[in-house]
Amino acid sequence: MLQGKTIILGVTGGIAAYKAVELLRLYVKAGAEVHVIMTESAREFVTPLTFQALSGNPVHTELFNLYQEQEIGHISLADRADLFIIAPATANLIGKAANGLADDLLSTTLMATKAPVLLVPAMNVNMYENPIYQENQQKLVDLGYHLLEPVVGELACGWEGKGKLAPVDAILAETELLLAERDMEGCRLLVTAGPTREEIDPVRYLSNYSSGKMGYAIAAVAARRGARVTLISGPCTLSVPPGVERVLVTSALDMHGAVMEAADTADVVIKAAAVADYRPVNRAPQKVKKGDGEQLTLTLTRNPDILADLGTEKGGRLLVGFAAETDDLLKHAGEKLQNKNLDLIVANDVTCEGAGFDVETNIVRFLYPDGRIEALEQMSKVAVAGELLDRIRDMRQRGS
Ligand code: CTP
Repeated sequence: MLQGKTIILGVTGGIAAYKAVELLRLYVKAGAEVHVIMTESAREFVTPLTFQALSGNPVHTELFNLYQEQEIGHISLADRADLFIIAPATANLIGKAANGLADDLLSTTLMATKAPVLLVPAMNVNMYENPIYQENQQKLVDLGYHLLEPVVGELACGWEGKGKLAPVDAILAETELLLAERDMEGCRLLVTAGPTREEIDPVRYLSNYSSGKMGYAIAAVAARRGARVTLISGPCTLSVPPGVERVLVTSALDMHGAVMEAADTADVVIKAAAVADYRPVNRAPQKVKKGDGEQLTLTLTRNPDILADLGTEKGGRLLVGFAAETDDLLKHAGEKLQNKNLDLIVANDVTCEGAGFDVETNIVRFLYPDGRIEALEQMSKVAVAGELLDRIRDMRQRGS
């Protein structure tokens, strides 16, 4: 996702400096070229050699290092960066940046860069809450610096509170968001994800194995690419992707209501949720007790088909469905495409290894109303999301 991108990672002196090592590893794994600048106090916590070994580039530490200046001076570093991130950023660094002080390599390079800057502060909670700090931080945000706020937790100083460095995967996600090509700007996208739960009584429900990963991946990638995303999600444990508005629902009926309401203002609807087709006719108000008989019969009634309902009042929207099948994949998916009046259906055979529920990858085919079928190889759900959004972008550009 970060292939070909140049990132300057500034590390300042705080306990969380060791987490910058993990962050660097993630950046390199994602394909970025990373140049690390460390302050003098950062070097008290982690040695430059660690960052050098992981980035494959010399670590920059001195403002007046003739050798480094000749090779790749701080101004040229500042010029070639696609993103300048400081993690962890101490109160001192934020204070210096907010007041135009440039007295070491990091603060000087920061002042010289025209790249977007992401600040990820970490410090003691009292320092964080200090109005002087808050004023400095706010000043930088008002000037267009990006900020990933610290999280609440146990701090190295023994205090509990807001001041802990944001988790490295959240920093990576924020970085990807800032560096993504924004080719979906202006698109209002509605995505559904996860299973639904159909309650039997206060302690039991009918559901399915959907993890929500596919729908959440679509929402995350689309937001990264500039779309305005509403994610209507059944119960699952995934966190809300950055920039996405999430609406949590439980049953198919709840999802139906939420989707119908939100669809009015959507340009594209992608239904990745695994919606239960049936619900118990009656939800017992109390826990159902076992009787004497060997069998129990549950009577179910049909839920509305949300996608089919959208298909009958399609307007100018693009409609995309998913078909998770165990047999006769193309036949079943093709029928759903026609019957629900879709523009594209993503078909996958959930019996294949590496496809389906609760795994990280998927093996899918895209089916179109004109009979075309595109078979994609096995790839991560995030990559499938990217391919799908490419097709949607192209369809929108063609006006179909
Ligand atoms: N879908 C929906 N509402 C339902 C059932 C399904 O919106 N009540 C949507 C799903 O989100 C998916 C597509 O329809 O995008 C296909 O769902 P799937 O469960 O594979 O198919 P069904 O139409 O329910 O058919 P069947 O269960 O017979 O395979």
